[in-house]
Order: sequence, then C-alpha cells, then structure tokens
Amino acid sequence: MLTPPSARVASAAAAHAPEVIRLAGVAKTYHRDGVPVAALRSVDLRITRGEFVAIMGRSGSGKSTLLHILGLLDAEYEGRYELAGTCVSGQSADSLAPLRNRLIGFVFQSFHLLPQLSILENAALPALYARDRERDACFAAARTRLVEMGLGDRLEHRPGELSIGQRQRAAIARALVNAPSLLLADEPTGALDSRTAEEILEVLGDLHAAGATLVMVTHDPEVAAVASRLVQIRDGRAHDGVA
Ligand SMILES: Nc1ncnc2c1ncn2[C@@H]1O[C@H](COP(=O)(O)OP(=O)(O)O)[C@@H](O)[C@H]1O
Ligand SMILES: [Mg+2]
Repeated sequence: MLTPPSARVASAAAAHAPEVIRLAGVAKTYHRDGVPVAALRSVDLRITRGEFVAIMGRSGSGKSTLLHILGLLDAEYEGRYELAGTCVSGQSADSLAPLRNRLIGFVFQSFHLLPQLSILENAALPALYARDRERDACFAAARTRLVEMGLGDRLEHRPGELSIGQRQRAAIARALVNAPSLLLADEPTGALDSRTAEEILEVLGDLHAAGATLVMVTHDPEVAAVASRLVQIRDGRAHDGVA
C-alpha cells in the first residue's frame, strides 16, 4: 500500500487550511518511584484541517502520551497547546471534558464498546453526554452515522453479536456522532486481521477524503502509508517524514 502522490499534494495544499492542532514546546515527564522519566521533551507540531497524520515511533517513544495530550485526556504537561484556536494548556482535564466531547472523537484498538448496550445506544452516548440535543436527536444522529458505516441492519445488536470489523465500524460511528473537529485513533487496526484492517483503513481513508482531520498512532508502516503525512516521535520530539 503506497500513498498516492495526489494525497501528498493535497497535504501540501492543506498548509493553508486552518490549524486544528498547534503544539509548541510540549514536554511531559512521568515520575516513577521518584525518578523522572522524560516521555516527551519538546514537541512542536501543527496539524491543519483535512490532514490525515500517522504518528509512528518505537515502543516507549511517547506516542500514547502524545495522543492523550492531543485528546485532552492528560492535562499535566509543559508547553502550549492550541486546539481549534483555543488555548487548552494550563486547564484541568475535568474542565476540558465538554470541549473534548464536542471537538474530539476517539477510536481505540479494542473498540471500548459497552457490551450490555446495543450499538445504537453505544453510538449515541457521546451525543447524550453533550446534553445539547434532545434524546431523540441524539439517537437519530447515531442511527445516521451507523447507516453510513453500513450497520443500518444491526442497530439493535449488541457488540458481541457483531464481527470485529463491524464493532470497529460501530466505534467509528460513535466517534463521529458529535461531528468532531478531530478524530484520534490509537492503533485502530491493531486488534484486526489483515483483511478487516484493510476494510477499516478504507473507512478512515473515505473520512479523510470527505474532509475529516485524522491523527492515527500506529507501529505498522503499511497502516501509516494510508495517511497523507507521517510524523515520527524520536528523542521526545516530533519529526516530519520517514526516520
Ligand atoms: N503512567 C506512567 N508512569 C511512568 N512512566 C510512564 C507512564 N506512562 C508511560 N510512561 C513512560 O513514558 C514513556 C513513553 O510511553 P508511551 O507514551 O506509552 O510510549 P508509546 O505509546 O510510544 O509506546 C515510556 O518510557 C514509558 O515507560
Ligand atoms: Mg502506546
């Protein structure tokens, strides 16, 4: 799977699009038994609307740390982060929860669907949490997203009754239910066989083609090749292009 040249041209053109993410000097140090562990030293990163960015790096290089910061799940870091023009650094993760729910959709390796709920209920949850729409409107939005993901005839099924590819598509529908500005995916194909992985990468590629902004962490160069831009995390810093 090679990235078509047209995708790289599109990425260059995106340099003039509005910025969704701007990180400047972002550093994160964990403390283990009182010993500091520098996970990110100084990350400068700009991502504009419509980009599909793959983040790669060795195990332990700080990919998940970076994704948690980008996703407003971790607010304990140094440096400056602007998300869709709003400075979010220096605010607590709790106070950022409404912004996170509205602006960011998450896709995880292991789906994180609630097993006792139907996929319609699962996909509606972020909309219900947002509390800015009527209940019926939340379910209508979830249904629309699930139909787009080809799951219109599975709405009342529980996750355990679906194939793993269908489960990940349901999780993507959930991530999109609030029409987020940014879709974050942590190893979205990591739990899938290669055929199902291709199917999910095609879904992500279609979202990119439709204008979505995606940031995906992966350790697999073939998966990264579907993105329009590659960012390597090395020595606690972000580097564009191949290592
Ligand atoms: N909660 C934590 N406490 C202490 N150290 C951590 C914690 N989470 C991650 N680290 C360390 O920070 C570094 C980066 O971790 P991580 O972001 O998970 O890397 P990756 O996702 O690239 O494998 C590693 O050295 C890891 O051991
Ligand atoms: Mg990780």
